[in-house]
Amino acid sequence: MTALVLGAVLLILQPQIVPSHPVSSPKVEVPSEAGQKELFRKGSLKSDFQDSPPLNGSSQRLPQTIIIGVRKGGTRALLEMLSLHPGIAAAESEVHYFDWEDHYGNGLEWYLSQMPFSFPHQLTVEKTPAYFTSSKVPERVYNMNQSIRLLLILRDPSERVLSDYTQVFYNHVQKHKPYPSIEEFLIKDGELNVEYKAINRSLYYFHMQNWLRYFPLNHIHIVDGDQLIRDPFPEIEKVERFLKLSPQINASNFYFNKTKGFYCLRDSGRDRCLHESKGRAHPQVDPKLLNKLHEYFHEPNKKFFELVGRTFDWH
Ligand SMILES: *[C@@H]1O[C@H](CO)[C@@H](O)[C@H](O)[C@H]1NC(C)=O
Ligand SMILES: *[C@@H]1O[C@H](CO)[C@@H](O)[C@H](O)[C@H]1NC(C)=O
Ligand SMILES: *[C@@H]1O[C@H](CO)[C@@H](O)[C@H](O)[C@H]1NC(C)=O
Ligand SMILES: *[C@@H]1O[C@H](CO)[C@@H](O)[C@H](O)[C@H]1NC(C)=O
Ligand SMILES: *[C@@H]1O[C@H](CO)[C@@H](O)[C@H](O)[C@H]1NC(C)=O
Repeated sequence: MTALVLGAVLLILQPQIVPSHPVSSPKVEVPSEAGQKELFRKGSLKSDFQDSPPLNGSSQRLPQTIIIGVRKGGTRALLEMLSLHPGIAAAESEVHYFDWEDHYGNGLEWYLSQMPFSFPHQLTVEKTPAYFTSSKVPERVYNMNQSIRLLLILRDPSERVLSDYTQVFYNHVQKHKPYPSIEEFLIKDGELNVEYKAINRSLYYFHMQNWLRYFPLNHIHIVDGDQLIRDPFPEIEKVERFLKLSPQINASNFYFNKTKGFYCLRDSGRDRCLHESKGRAHPQVDPKLLNKLHEYFHEPNKKFFELVGRTFDWH
């Protein structure tokens, strides 16, 4: 239950709206990447397990599937939706095993100790969005299990950049620290600053190539993050099929909340919602700048579509 509550809190995170010149100090419920690291270090993950003794017949298992990214792609939503399935046992916190040297140095036994207790018929899943863009990770995952199934959730790369900025912005607001406007990151000498990390993270083809050196394409299922938000059930059904799970999640597990403008989850009588869009400043990104961003991603997107043999409805 503690885990469910934590999950619900983390769900409130995906800011939809991007302040360009933020003036207000919106209330923030978002544990930032750094915040989550903090949470993790304090051992909240462990205490989750200690709260309730493991059930007879359950044990910790290495993940049979990992949600590898992308940051701000909707990984938390995907994990929560997938967790509706009784055959899924999900690690609540982002484990950061393969991308953080201090964690990786602890070895597989440590990784195993971070996993939830599960029953033999269940699949264990963990999600760490930073894996996708971290160049060392594919080989390390391969060395653990070369037949593992991977889940990757992607959104329109330009939207992802804005969302990425927004998250870091809110992290600063939370700590009462100033943070430059998005233009200061996006523009350099009057041109688009392609060295901005958030832009690099949206070069999906570049990162995907690293993964395809180790894993065949049919072991990596790509979830359309924009579709998942618009109409979650069909996307989740595809994930069930990919993971060879029995079809258990159904359309009535999702209901649209008109006030929020987003889908909520209905899980054996417990309702929880995916987004909190209230109280956030509106985007004020110069349309010309947005256009530049869209144009910049045109070629990389094309390369990505060729790489994966599939197109997405991105700008
Ligand atoms: C688990 O197994 C032990 C010993 O076999 C038994 O004493 C205990 O009651 C069981 N617990 C549950 C929750 O079934
Ligand atoms: C490796 O992953 C596959 C696919 O999920 C799974 O069937 C298998 O049990 C995993 N092997 C180990 C040792 O975890
Ligand atoms: C993106 O970043 C990686 C390092 O993380 C670098 O190797 C690569 O050249 C960058 N790509 C572009 C197009 O700047
Ligand atoms: C959908 O799943 C729930 C359990 O999660 C079940 O109670 C309900 O009958 C299912 N509905 C349909 C239409 O299959
Ligand atoms: C829908 O969202 C509104 C606004 O956040 C909330 O007050 C209400 O409880 C939600 N309704 C349901 C059925 O989830």
